[in-house]
Amino acid sequence: AHVWQGIIREYADHLPDHVRTHVVTLGEGGTPLVPAPALSRLTGADVLVKVEGMNPTGSFKDRGMTTAISAAAARGAEAVVCASTGNTSASAAAYATAAGMVCAVLVPDGKIAMGKLSQAIAHGARLLQVDGNFDDCLIAARKLAEVYPVELVNSVNPDRIEGQKTASFEVVDVLGDAPDIHALPVGNAGNITAYWKGYREYAAAGRATHLPQMWGFQAAGAAPIVLGHPVTEPETIATAIRIGNPASWEQAVEARDSSGGVIQSVTDEQILAAHRLLSAEVGVFVEPASAAGVAGLLQRAERGEVPAGARIVVTVTGHGLKDPGWALRTADGDDVVPQRVSADVMSIAAALGLD
Ligand code: F0G
Repeated sequence: AHVWQGIIREYADHLPDHVRTHVVTLGEGGTPLVPAPALSRLTGADVLVKVEGMNPTGSFKDRGMTTAISAAAARGAEAVVCASTGNTSASAAAYATAAGMVCAVLVPDGKIAMGKLSQAIAHGARLLQVDGNFDDCLIAARKLAEVYPVELVNSVNPDRIEGQKTASFEVVDVLGDAPDIHALPVGNAGNITAYWKGYREYAAAGRATHLPQMWGFQAAGAAPIVLGHPVTEPETIATAIRIGNPASWEQAVEARDSSGGVIQSVTDEQILAAHRLLSAEVGVFVEPASAAGVAGLLQRAERGEVPAGARIVVTVTGHGLKDPGWALRTADGDDVVPQRVSADVMSIAAALGLD
């Protein structure tokens, strides 16, 4: 049986030499592409979800972090820095640890999910809660890396995009060709940039006969690309994509336009509804931001904008355990309180309504 080697070794032929000389891996990639009959039924299409929460630190960031940290290690770097809404910091902290590097992370004060905060701290990162939002953190991280001997591992680092593009390769390897449409959440816009690069490169290498339309979805309160201008005070419950001035803005627009796709917004209510649907009807538990792609797909289906029978892959970007509290609230915002029962079979059967 083939043992998965991590994305650098699996896709060495499609990656630059400088990420391959000193491989730092935690076995990322090779994530499941799961058919989602519930979504196919609702959209009239053939929908699969790419479950990126199955990466070692629970998000797609690991694909770009193995390449960024490997390249930094090859250059002899001793310290890295990133700005993050949480997942990048968790991933950077883990890969820096594996490489024996110091990792500093800048996160917006009070606006990152508990699971992600725990991960960065567990992996020994120097975590600073910055009095500002993600965009402020990124400006500071970029300046820090310009002036001090620390390497920036945000997705403005091209090595990150190189790693993240391998998700497209995996989709094509499983399906035998590119899907018709690829939907995903958009925050800092690195991932849509990476997927588009991956699809183009694989098609150029003769591995796919066509390219998908790229459908990106931002949260309505943090939708600068949709609005056409930066948002100074982005707000959304989907903290992972609470970003007002995406670093890869132009690349995202390029992916949208040259693929004939769209970038649209979805409300927090739509995101939470998609989050519940993924858990309760597909069987995949994600964090809220990760459901934005599904929310957007459903919105387009309601508007009659999903081509019948199209093969659609939706990336769900991060694991539900990152931010588990949302599952303990009903659609009406009430707390979910587990039912108590005494430890005898009769009471349990009665509570379950069995006769
Ligand atoms: N989904 C999740 C779970 C994320 O953590 C992010 C970004 C995105 C989607 C959006 O991806 O930025 O490439 O457009 N999280 C970054 C972070 C910003 O710091 O963890 P993008």
